[in-house]
Amino acid sequence: MKIVLLGATGMVGSRIATEALSREHEVTAITRSGLAPEDGNPRLTAVAADASNPERIAELAAGHDVVASALVPPRDGSDPREPFSALYDDVLRGVRQSGVRRIVIVGGAGSLLVGPGEMLLDSPGFPDAYKGEALAHHDLLTKLRDVEYLDWTYISPAPEIAPGVRTGTYRIGGERLLTGDDGTSSISAEDYAIAFVDELESAEHPNERISVVH
Ligand SMILES: NC(=O)c1ccc[n+]([C@@H]2O[C@H](COP(=O)([O-])OP(=O)(O)OC[C@H]3O[C@@H](n4cnc5c(N)ncnc54)[C@H](OP(=O)(O)O)[C@@H]3O)[C@@H](O)[C@H]2O)c1
Repeated sequence: MKIVLLGATGMVGSRIATEALSREHEVTAITRSGLAPEDGNPRLTAVAADASNPERIAELAAGHDVVASALVPPRDGSDPREPFSALYDDVLRGVRQSGVRRIVIVGGAGSLLVGPGEMLLDSPGFPDAYKGEALAHHDLLTKLRDVEYLDWTYISPAPEIAPGVRTGTYRIGGERLLTGDDGTSSISAEDYAIAFVDELESAEHPNERISVVH
């Protein structure tokens, strides 16, 4: 499979790159820096490009089977909602122009439901520091639900996602936050990447938000 991966050197994106390459997929890794997520892999091409340039994204994505995106809202303390929304308008325009008909996106956990109509990001104790990023992701998911010209899948990680161990085990949920017996909800970035690449390969959840937890 030929995969374009936006945000390929990030905490999550680099693990998706490694997982996809280990399964013999071809990965075109796009970041502003142009750095490669790993060295010396013949199936990896690292390219410097800004995802906010639709013409460049269209040109780079053309001929691939799927676009995968691990782009991140700005984390400089400013309100990330408008810039993240504008970034994804550009990405979606570029993908549409490229002729690729499918995008799979690394999402956020904040919009997962913890009760009828109640999102995690509105629940007491949700950290203020993550609220802007969570709202920016909620805006993105709302935007995707109106997209008709390509298939999308938005994959929310558990609220706690960090580099860890590739155990090979994960659970897939939907709109509702899944927790363990102890009430916590976490996933290693390595196991999240397995679930993400499984979805790239299976295309089992078109036009849906799914979630991944241990
Ligand atoms: N529990 C949660 O809800 C949770 C927790 C963590 C992360 N996440 C989500 O997971 C996603 C990935 O997060 P992360 O922590 O892996 O981010 P990260 O480590 O900051 O990585 C971001 C990646 O995107 C690239 N990038 C940023 N802006 C770009 C642009 N305009 N054009 C091209 N490439 C660009 C960066 O490379 P360059 O700087 O070189 O461009 C980097 O490769 C985010 O959407 C984040 O919100 C969710």
